[in-house]
Amino acid sequence: MGRKFFVGGNWKCNGTSEEVKKLVSTLNAGEVPSQDVVEVAVSPPFVFLPVVKDLLRPDFHIAAQNCWVKKGGAFTGEVSAEMLINLGIPWVILGHSERRLILNESNEFVGDKVAYALSKGLKVIACVGETLEQRESGSTMEVVAAQTKAIAERISNWADVVLAYEPVWAIGTGKVATPAQAQEVHFELRKWLQANTSPEVAATTRIIYGGSVSGANCKELATQPDVDGFLVGGASLKPEFIDIIKSAE
Ligand code: G3P
Repeated sequence: MGRKFFVGGNWKCNGTSEEVKKLVSTLNAGEVPSQDVVEVAVSPPFVFLPVVKDLLRPDFHIAAQNCWVKKGGAFTGEVSAEMLINLGIPWVILGHSERRLILNESNEFVGDKVAYALSKGLKVIACVGETLEQRESGSTMEVVAAQTKAIAERISNWADVVLAYEPVWAIGTGKVATPAQAQEVHFELRKWLQANTSPEVAATTRIIYGGSVSGANCKELATQPDVDGFLVGGASLKPEFIDIIKSAE
């Protein structure tokens, strides 16, 4: 069963409006494989969503970097799933480790957010991943399974979810997981989905890798059978993002 390669660019909390416009025009000029081969989504900070939506090429999608856990209202500083839908933003990243660790988002809270976003019609890039300490203590699978379980027990619609495995020790460190390390966790995650959701969900859900992905290392990672794409941070702000998209071929 074919899983279409997915490449997300998480711009995180970066950029001025001038820089964002420049980045969009670089992306717009890039030659990439067709939408039959690769699905691309870039994720600007909230304030730049409208300008990116206006300027970005139509074959690239847009993802917000977060959204609120329930219907909007008296939640100062938050952005609701309804607002993203209203703006025509199809995707949202939820459960990024920077939010789990810095803002203390628990597995349950992330699960609730994923369920709410899906219920409003958003597609979700749901992130999981272990810290260095957890990896060194041998609990990688236990950690990512618990993170995935909190999502799985709240949703049934996996067709609109991309699972992003992002080991925390690889994020922004230049210390990318080896292709074997990435494949091992992706394989185990798929096995977990097989046992805890359904064989169909396991076979069709895209599991993408994030953590120091670059133009130089993406090709080898992309050859791994259970690596269905990437969630890219730093390199998504550079022209090499186009090379990473090309690794889909
Ligand atoms: O969400 C993408 C991410 O956290 C990876 O960041 O800079 O290591 O590619 P980076």
